[in-house]
Amino acid sequence: MASSVVPASSPLPRHIGIIMDGNGRWAQRNNQFRTQGHLEGLKTAKKIVRAASDLHIQFLTLYVFSTENWKRTAEEVGFIMGLVKQYLKAELDFYRENRIRIRHAGDPGGLPPDIARELAEACEDTRSFEGLQVILALNYGGRDAIVRAVGRWFDSLAKLEHEPLEKRIQEKITEEGIRSCLDNPDIPDPDLIIRTAGEYRISNFLLWEGAYAEYYFSETLWPDWSEADLRAAISAYQQRERRFGGGNP
Ligand code: FPP
Repeated sequence: MASSVVPASSPLPRHIGIIMDGNGRWAQRNNQFRTQGHLEGLKTAKKIVRAASDLHIQFLTLYVFSTENWKRTAEEVGFIMGLVKQYLKAELDFYRENRIRIRHAGDPGGLPPDIARELAEACEDTRSFEGLQVILALNYGGRDAIVRAVGRWFDSLAKLEHEPLEKRIQEKITEEGIRSCLDNPDIPDPDLIIRTAGEYRISNFLLWEGAYAEYYFSETLWPDWSEADLRAAISAYQQRERRFGGGNP
């Protein structure tokens, strides 16, 4: 798997989403605490961000912490949040040098206030950068994102109070209308969604946006992932034929 070369001719995925799975199993296999698995996972995330930037990928969404991950022990949740904070601070110089923009997908309201603040600052500090955009899915759930979008959609309808409610609903209840209320409506849908560690499910990740994504499943645990694995996933994507529901040519 490690030796794949990305062919120059086929288009690269503009937007890649990654479900970074297998930190816990990596720790177990290496006789370490789960927290060590997350620490190794963070190192891999840094490597993959660098690789994606070098490959000129435009958008990379990393599934860091889901709306369901709060069910984990307080110790594990606290450790992951600490890693996020450390990551946001430690990588800022690297983002500046490489013009990488940080963005957030998910509900900031449910995050510990210091994490929400660091995240908002990192997003603001890198706002004008035109290189790779790294979207950290943090306190993110695909269903939650849709629910929050529908809430915003209703708010937008309420503002058009000069028109009858029925007319407002009929005119605005379109895919584009709902899409425009998602967290980051300007970001194109993911072309490629990767899940590591041999699990074949989507776990509430980019449910709306991933409607026509190509999926790639890797057996390798996230801490063992490398740039070569990313290249292999991209290479597999480039060999797919995307029809978006259309027939064979
Ligand atoms: C899934 O592995 C991993 C997570 C829920 C946490 C992901 C967090 C990181 C990689 C570190 C932070 C990264 C950034 C970019 C700030 P798991 O614990 O579910 O593994 P398992 O299924 O083997 O138990």
